[in-house]
Amino acid sequence: MNKLLPSLLAVTLAALSARAADDVILADFEGKDYGNWKTTGEAFGSGPAQGTLPRQMKVSGYLGHGLVNSFHGSDKPTGTLTSPEFKIERHYVRFLIGGGGWPDKTCMNLLVDGKVVRSATGPNVKPGGSEVLEPMLWDVSEFAGKTARIQIVDNATGGWGHINVDHIALSDKKPPKLLANPKHEFKIGKRYLNIPIKNGAPKRKVSVFVDGKPDVVLDIELADAKPDWWAFMEVSAWRGRAVALQADKLPEDSAALTQIEPSDEIKCAEDLYREPLRSQFHFSSKRGWNNDPNGMVFYRGEYHLFYQHNPYGWPWGNMHWGHAVSRDLVHWQELGDKLAPDEMGPMFSGSAVVDWKNTSGLGKDGQPPQVLIYTAAGHPTVQCIASSTDGRIFTKFSGNPVVKEFTPGNRDPKVIWHEPAQKWVMTLYVGFPDPAKKDAKGKPARRDTIHFLGSPDLKNWTVMSQTEGFYECPDFFELAVDGDANKKKWVLTAASSDYAIGTFDGAKFTPDTEKLKGHRGRGFYAAQTFSDIPAKDGRRIQIGWLQAPSPGMPFNQAMSLPLELKLISTAEGPRLTWTPVRELQKLRAKSHRPGTRTLKEGDTNPFAGVSGELFEVHADFTPSADTAITFNVRGVEIAYDAAKQELIVNHHRAPAPLRNGRQRLIIYADRTALEVFASDGLTYVPMPVIPKADDRSLGLSVKGGAAQFSALEAHELRSAWK
Ligand code: FRU
Repeated sequence: MNKLLPSLLAVTLAALSARAADDVILADFEGKDYGNWKTTGEAFGSGPAQGTLPRQMKVSGYLGHGLVNSFHGSDKPTGTLTSPEFKIERHYVRFLIGGGGWPDKTCMNLLVDGKVVRSATGPNVKPGGSEVLEPMLWDVSEFAGKTARIQIVDNATGGWGHINVDHIALSDKKPPKLLANPKHEFKIGKRYLNIPIKNGAPKRKVSVFVDGKPDVVLDIELADAKPDWWAFMEVSAWRGRAVALQADKLPEDSAALTQIEPSDEIKCAEDLYREPLRSQFHFSSKRGWNNDPNGMVFYRGEYHLFYQHNPYGWPWGNMHWGHAVSRDLVHWQELGDKLAPDEMGPMFSGSAVVDWKNTSGLGKDGQPPQVLIYTAAGHPTVQCIASSTDGRIFTKFSGNPVVKEFTPGNRDPKVIWHEPAQKWVMTLYVGFPDPAKKDAKGKPARRDTIHFLGSPDLKNWTVMSQTEGFYECPDFFELAVDGDANKKKWVLTAASSDYAIGTFDGAKFTPDTEKLKGHRGRGFYAAQTFSDIPAKDGRRIQIGWLQAPSPGMPFNQAMSLPLELKLISTAEGPRLTWTPVRELQKLRAKSHRPGTRTLKEGDTNPFAGVSGELFEVHADFTPSADTAITFNVRGVEIAYDAAKQELIVNHHRAPAPLRNGRQRLIIYADRTALEVFASDGLTYVPMPVIPKADDRSLGLSVKGGAAQFSALEAHELRSAWK
């Protein structure tokens, strides 16, 4: 007998039994339609959803791109989705499920001989809840060899009247059990705990205990195995103490807590600030998500920029106040989180002032305090203060809150000192349900107000007045029209950057104008201006949240350039202008100045041969009537259409009037966004866009008539991070 035969047989048998154990995927819902699955009703649409549907909370926990999601339109539609017949040839049916928790109404059923033999629902029946799909399994060994169907049902029309399902497989492998409250303790000897993050993984509630005492509770997409990136928790303040992290649940084979790494370094940060999609002259956080700028103030020689920060996730969540400082508005140093969520809630947006006269009593040894005024967004949502005398260590005030809730969700206090009235003035967003009006969903509409509150000491506040029509993140400041100190006007603005101009008597704002348009681009939100810039400088400088995503990076979003705000006279009255602060000129590394010239169609590109990554471009030109002037910055077009007097940035049009027949453009191009300024700053067009990685060119061409350039220069910029 051939000696090879027995071993060959063994190999074949092993292969066979290995194949027998493989999963049979019944559906992964990655296609355009449902294939040979059949729908009834409207709830399931015409095919799998690509993640979250419009007006739905963020859905996560599914695999790949597609899933069954019966929130088509809203919770209202109903229907069913039924599989073709299949044979039960494994011990288990495994799947991911989420959404409504209504038995028989939002469910997935297993039908054998036409009868429901197994049924599962999502977890939610109350407002709030979570759109995460979690793994589930049915033991179906008793039906071995029978034919069956899966039927997904949405027969609910109210709250949580939808069902989400993904990745249905027959399997012989039992998934790991979920352990409740696994905990891991660290004796703190290093500066950080590096925490493994998997984007889109189920959010775990992670409780942090210090010497056994609960400190903070976080929502973290913990990586059970290989992480996408590492977040860091600064723990140096707890040196020598025991810090424990406890998750609400984890699969029994999860390495999420055990792979947390104490270290003096941020893990995998060798290329910090040089990551491919790291803005090179816009501020962004080392790790995690940022949204609004907060607490902007000039204190003890430094510009302070706090910001809404999720230190432990790529999307929004876990609102802390991150902190960075700069001496020149260009080079920023990140200092770590200063306000962490507490029993009053997550730390939402707010502002900062220097309390020069120590009205709050929070100063020390003649040092006026830096006071942060923030929203604690719990139930109730209240306004609080914290202070520092060194710009580094901040202490929450023991008498918090300083403003009680008016209505749930009131937020974003911006405080100024009003010299004539000798008091602090707070603008605060307060929304009221407006039962007289209904929104698109038939719910009471909201009446948005900005409340004006006054205080002698930052601790005791009373309502003085209110105005309507502005939503979240107000800012309120006085500006000289055309730089004339005798012609000052008040500007009220809010998150969208729309604004009104008017007068203020120390208690009430009276607008002279309608609501006017702010920025004309995309992805600029919740801007605020610095408080306490020294009078000899006298500028009003604004920074906004630049909603520029950085996919694949361990951080997300950025801040706009620091923008100088002015009021200038126009035929319609005074209007706001935005221009980049002059300090940015420090970043110029190599300049190209083709200079004064007339350009017409067919002329060669004055910047031919220029090759760079980060650009600043200035162009002052007088176009003939029907001319289009087009810059091409690394594949992104910025054009001026002289016929329509419009600026077109990456296909987005914005009005940009000629001023005395002339147009002046300034373009800043970074790795995830452009900012374009036109019409002497009357038109500001921020634009999140990622230029082509392999295109380093700069182009300029003219179509139609001609353009006479009185100034033309481009600068290759260096990184602000070096
Ligand atoms: C604006 C905003 C604020 C709130 C904060 C929460 O982007 O919604 O109103 O304070 O973000 O992160």
